[in-house]
Amino acid sequence: MPAPVVDAIKNYIDEEAIEGGYETFNRHEEDFERFYQQAARLINCHSGEIAFVENATRAWDMIFYSLPWKAGDVILTSMAEYASNYIAYLQLNKKFGVEVKAVPNASDGALCVDSLKKMIDARTALVAVTHVPTNGGLVNPAIEIGRVARERELPYLLDACQSVGQLDVDVEEIGCDFLSATGRKYLRGPRGTGFLYVRKSRIKNIEPVFLDLHAATWVAKDSFEIRDDARRFENWEQNYAGKYGLTRAMEYALALGTGNIQERVLYLGNYLRQGLASLTGDAEIEVTDTGSTRCGIVSFRSARYKVDEIIGAMKEHRINLSSSTTSGTRLDMEDRGLTELVRASVHYYNTEAELDLFIAKLADLHSALASSRPRP
Ligand SMILES: Cc1ncc(COP(=O)(O)O)c(C=O)c1O
Repeated sequence: MPAPVVDAIKNYIDEEAIEGGYETFNRHEEDFERFYQQAARLINCHSGEIAFVENATRAWDMIFYSLPWKAGDVILTSMAEYASNYIAYLQLNKKFGVEVKAVPNASDGALCVDSLKKMIDARTALVAVTHVPTNGGLVNPAIEIGRVARERELPYLLDACQSVGQLDVDVEEIGCDFLSATGRKYLRGPRGTGFLYVRKSRIKNIEPVFLDLHAATWVAKDSFEIRDDARRFENWEQNYAGKYGLTRAMEYALALGTGNIQERVLYLGNYLRQGLASLTGDAEIEVTDTGSTRCGIVSFRSARYKVDEIIGAMKEHRINLSSSTTSGTRLDMEDRGLTELVRASVHYYNTEAELDLFIAKLADLHSALASSRPRP
């Protein structure tokens, strides 16, 4: 998180501690309207189409589980679908007989839009795709998918958890009806924050799976009325310090410009990929990212070292890495014969010198043991 985001959260909590939770909220009520306005600016929609939700998963769940499912409905999804989403598909299959079908990838590794077109039939009830998967730099063709969904008047749910904040995401250009995003990743916001976008024309026809006294009003002993904006998908009780911080994080990103952010992140991602590709011989590094457009998430594996060993060794140089395993994106990982990957994510604040250092340390690690150590 950038310093202004951290300061915003700390100051909000300090105010709560001194003034009280309700009192602090009342004082900042107008600031919280800014949350909806900034999120709307960020993805090009109206503030009434935004709901604050505690993370991307629940944002996605709130719309997914609220759709009017019936036995025989078919969900068309991507090969690189995120585990939590796919588990939800399997649960609906078990409970209601809803079917899930993964659209195969094209030769570049991204979802094949022609196959998607061919797979749509009268039973198709939802197109649900992950924009940027958890296990690599692939950017799925969200706009082309949106064109197909619109032509066929199908609801389109985009998991944009890993794209919002690094790519210039525009819901009008993409044509999605629903989009889920998180605060804690490329937006540089606090953990435990996220948001959901629901297209205005869809809001009134979708009754949230959960309702409370914020999403609806108890108007008579035996009746309630659901609010008519996207906040019908929210809870009354919220992490207000987090929401305040996420507002600041979105303002920070908007001030830098989402186009500028995208340009820099894509440049650095490709810079790192080229550096990794230059490690030949002893290093035996394989970059595993696919797709014609690749973003700031760079995935690779080593023939010599296990993922945890690389992560541990790089930590000593204060280089933070993460990992992806089969169970995060099972369809894609099994399809490509992958079991575990190192995941390096760059952001605009990284420098070329930092990436050079990382590549050099990785080369040192491999040359140190390459001659004595057999492949695992
Ligand atoms: C593609 C994708 N969707 C959703 C999520 C979940 O995000 P959150 O932790 O905010 O619920 C992740 C997290 O890694 C992800 O990679």
